[in-house]
Amino acid sequence: MTSFTVNGQPVHYRLHPDTPLLFALREASNLTGAKLGCGTGHCGACTVHVDGRAVRSCRVPIREIEGTYVTTIEGLSNDRSHPVQQAFAADNVPQCGFCIPGMIMAAAALIDHEDSLSDDRIDAAIPNICRCGIYPRLRDSIRRAAR
Ligand code: FES
Repeated sequence: MTSFTVNGQPVHYRLHPDTPLLFALREASNLTGAKLGCGTGHCGACTVHVDGRAVRSCRVPIREIEGTYVTTIEGLSNDRSHPVQQAFAADNVPQCGFCIPGMIMAAAALIDHEDSLSDDRIDAAIPNICRCGIYPRLRDSIRRAAR
């Protein structure tokens, strides 16, 4: 059994320890905000937080996160939207929307630690892939959220 905390609730998974965190979240906990895109750690659609750090959950076996605190897009904010969610909505950032939960989680982790963000810094910290090409307004919106 593998135990950790997801969105403030303890979970105990009777899954193979090599099961990717993404599959545990989506299939055992029905938390489907994190998406399966590439499955190889490149696109970032599966981004969640583990102990406050953005990780690509398709590449993290649950055995590596025993005892940690996991946050998914469903648990990012309680009664009101996170500043990144507010900024993305105000700036009409999403297009098709598939990559957006991962983008929000990556951006939320970034602005928790930094508030002065150049385009290059955002691109380096959030190498997530968006097939709609929303990058210019994404960067501006992340800066708005960081203020
Ligand atoms: Fe995990 Fe693409 S699905 S990085």
